[in-house]
Amino acid sequence: ADGPLVLGIESSCDETGVGIVRGRTLLTNTVASSMDEHVRFGGVVPEVASRAHVHAIGPTVDEALTDAGVTLDDIDAIAVTAGPGLSGALMVGVAAAKGLAAATGLPLYGINHLAAHIAVDLVADDLQQPATTSGAGDIGQPATASGPGDTGQPATASGPVTPSIALLVSGGHTEILRIGDLVDDIELLGATIDDAAGEAFDKTARLLGLSYPGGPNISKAAAGILDGTGQPGDPASVKFPRGLSTAKDLRDPARRYSFSFSGLKTAALRFVTAYEAARAAGSPETSRQLTDLRLADVTASFETAVVDVLVTKTLLACEDHGIDHVMLGGGVAANRRLRETLAERCGEAGVTLRIPPLNLCTDNGAMVAALGAELVTRGLPPSPEDFAVFSSLE
Ligand code: KG4
Ligand code: ZN
Repeated sequence: ADGPLVLGIESSCDETGVGIVRGRTLLTNTVASSMDEHVRFGGVVPEVASRAHVHAIGPTVDEALTDAGVTLDDIDAIAVTAGPGLSGALMVGVAAAKGLAAATGLPLYGINHLAAHIAVDLVADDLQQPATTSGAGDIGQPATASGPGDTGQPATASGPVTPSIALLVSGGHTEILRIGDLVDDIELLGATIDDAAGEAFDKTARLLGLSYPGGPNISKAAAGILDGTGQPGDPASVKFPRGLSTAKDLRDPARRYSFSFSGLKTAALRFVTAYEAARAAGSPETSRQLTDLRLADVTASFETAVVDVLVTKTLLACEDHGIDHVMLGGGVAANRRLRETLAERCGEAGVTLRIPPLNLCTDNGAMVAALGAELVTRGLPPSPEDFAVFSSLE
């Protein structure tokens, strides 16, 4: 394989990621996560994340170079996430990248994190083998969606299909984007106006007494794995709200593709309070219905409420724009109900769906390197030397 040898650095949230690609070939995807340090806080603490990046960045760059079997002398360009993300965390990665670029004289590209999530598909074909990680935990999932609806889809595609609609869902962000071209035609159609989807999982898990990160635990509970019964919960048992989904919201261009998960969190809190009161009151007939509910029922209902809105709005975006391809990215892509529901609804709508391997869905350096290599290949100039980090979406 040929093409530019690019080292990519990602530090927008709690993962310190370094990836190296040669053109569209992935050589390494090395990740150090500070997730463990955030567990006791029940969410990512920006200050803790920044410090963890400071410690991890040097060793992770070294590990990536060793793993790829290259040295800094071989590298043609450096790419780094410039935003959006936590500004302190971003600054650590950008400072490291600027230092490396200054020391080596290599061109440096500041990369948009959301575009990188999508660009990762450029190198996703290579990830049939488990990628190198350190401390990234539960990865190594199948390379493509394994939902019931994804029959007849190629197992891999060569790079992102355009035009497409991307649904990016993680602990730090939740967006629907229209991608006409990876480099110069990405349009943000909508985003969350409060919590990110993963954050909603994490906060609700906490309310239900499940540990951080909450997403995987809510899924396990909903599938009946946590209570050992193996009996999935009833997703229709608790009526949780679907944020920004009334007919009026959907008519409003500013809300049509936007998300709100804070009402869901409040509803979950209200549910837990009512449940505990019912338990405390013994079991009068009126409380029976509530106290008979299993954790599996509550979590399945919650999960379905989140997934329902994500999937519905993604397909609305496809329909509105006449686009028949969807890409899913972000850590919440690990959610099985989301994968399956999206695959099913895409199948019904005649829309193809692409889900990169999970370790490329979560934040990583490979996606940054992949987009960097694309910019180099297209002959685009590096970023100005004094480019700054940006924390918000625009
Ligand atoms: O992209 P990611 O690894 O990192 C950041 O956002 O920084 O995403 C992590 C998020 C967490 O909020 C976690 O609870 C959620 O993804 N998550 C899940 C699942 N696995 C991880 N949410 C729902 N279901 C899952 N199976
Ligand atoms: Zn991300």
